[in-house]
Amino acid sequence: MQNKKTFYITTPIYYPSGKLHIGHAYTTTLAWTMRNYKTLRGYDAKMLTGADEHGQKIQEKALAANISEQQYVDKMTELFKSLWKKLEIDYNYYSRTTNPSHEQSVQKIFSELLADGVIYKGHYKGLYSIQDEEFLTITQAEEKDGEYYHPTSGHKLEEVQEESYFLKMSKFSDWLDKEFDKVNFVRPNKIVKELRENFLKKGLEDLSITRTSFTWGVPVSEDSKHVVYVWLDALTNYINTLGYHSQEDSDYQKYWVNGDEKVHLVGKEITRFHCIYWPIILKALNLPQPTTILSHGWIITPEGKMSKSKGNVIDPIELIDEFGAETLKYFFAAQISMGQDGVFDKEMLKNTYNSALANNYGNLLSRTIAMTLQSFDKPIKYTETNNELDKEIIKEIIESKKQYVKYFDNFEINKAFEVATKLSKSLNGYIDKTQPWTLKEDKERLEQVLNTLLNGIYAVTTYLSVVIPNKTALAAEQLQTKKLCLEEILNFKKFDETLVQKGEVLFQRIK
Ligand code: MSP
Repeated sequence: MQNKKTFYITTPIYYPSGKLHIGHAYTTTLAWTMRNYKTLRGYDAKMLTGADEHGQKIQEKALAANISEQQYVDKMTELFKSLWKKLEIDYNYYSRTTNPSHEQSVQKIFSELLADGVIYKGHYKGLYSIQDEEFLTITQAEEKDGEYYHPTSGHKLEEVQEESYFLKMSKFSDWLDKEFDKVNFVRPNKIVKELRENFLKKGLEDLSITRTSFTWGVPVSEDSKHVVYVWLDALTNYINTLGYHSQEDSDYQKYWVNGDEKVHLVGKEITRFHCIYWPIILKALNLPQPTTILSHGWIITPEGKMSKSKGNVIDPIELIDEFGAETLKYFFAAQISMGQDGVFDKEMLKNTYNSALANNYGNLLSRTIAMTLQSFDKPIKYTETNNELDKEIIKEIIESKKQYVKYFDNFEINKAFEVATKLSKSLNGYIDKTQPWTLKEDKERLEQVLNTLLNGIYAVTTYLSVVIPNKTALAAEQLQTKKLCLEEILNFKKFDETLVQKGEVLFQRIK
């Protein structure tokens, strides 16, 4: 057990300034699926999600609701957690930036960097987006009728002039440029080009990292009218929650310092914070870097990006109630290309479910089980085969495992599930070609065909188990197999001692 490789994946910690929508559910589903896949691969895999609870926006929300900031974030965090429960997503760490241990660590980080001279005191004059919690220069902003707006989110910017502490970013520019050459450090690779063009080449500006115009944040120990900028506070959650700066820091040592793979999954609009600020903060602290910062696209609707003003924000709760958690998770993981925006609409969700799960996989499982039990009342055994159809499909089963692993290891999640769908289709095709219903008199051949089918179904079920584990657990029960694991796919004798069992229809078609 001790030699297991480790894998640590994080979602961004979400702002509790509003309810979570399907975009957030998408991000969390991807991280969870990756974690499950790595567990299936034999890793000691962990996942973090959480809430980013400080900042001006949160303070304003609490004020508007007439409750304290803490009461406000407590309430929102309960809502977040209930969504993950409803989506049947379990996580290993739930990070909250109002946790005292996190706050203390943020203060220590600040003090260390101040003592090292990487942080200095100055004066900030520029633009700020409260909604995005982001500083912008006039050249980065868009101007309209004398007002400034955020270039991507479109939020109005306010002019800020205040005393502030700064982090010396420029000092790390050359270092970061080299770091970007590391294989897989930033995925997809095209982002590196953009970051180099837009930031490194122009010269990194020092980052303002404290605010004085509101109070809801971690106070700077040395100068308590300042609170730490919400991104410095938030980014460090990834190590603080593991126990950095705590007495009990074994998880931090295991999964971060000595960890094999450390992956931050982030939406494309926050890659700058994760690919520039975060590596620099870690470097300034002399701490190890993540192995991969993985950027994904947005979930959009047929009318474009979701926004309150367009009234097209989709609530995941309603979808889960209507279609079930696993249907939604499967759609996110299998149907949307990693790294690109993906359109969500209900028709597509239904079609994906009906074709990939109900017609393709579900049908394959139920008819194979029915045919087996019609003709056999004891386990059916594997026998060597010279039949071309068998050889072809067995080769595909073996190949599929390699493909599945290759895509998943490369974070091409949707492509990994395409492998499962393709194999499932081929198995249905194999039924059409071998016509088991005509083989009732030839038990030996029938046994061979059905055993091949069961082995193929086992592979598909294993692949799907990282995203629809409840359904595949039911399938495993029907297959009467104890455990779904990748290694077993290549053992074609696994059904020799057990007879399958009839069960309920796993995927009812949605009308
Ligand atoms: N609090 C910061 C993250 C700090 S991490 C140290 C934040 N929070 S957020 O709630 O605004 O967004 C969190 C994540 O949700 C981002 O990665 C963002 O890309 C993602 N999404 C928000 N809308 C989305 C879609 N419509 N589609 C997919 N993901 C989207 O930023």
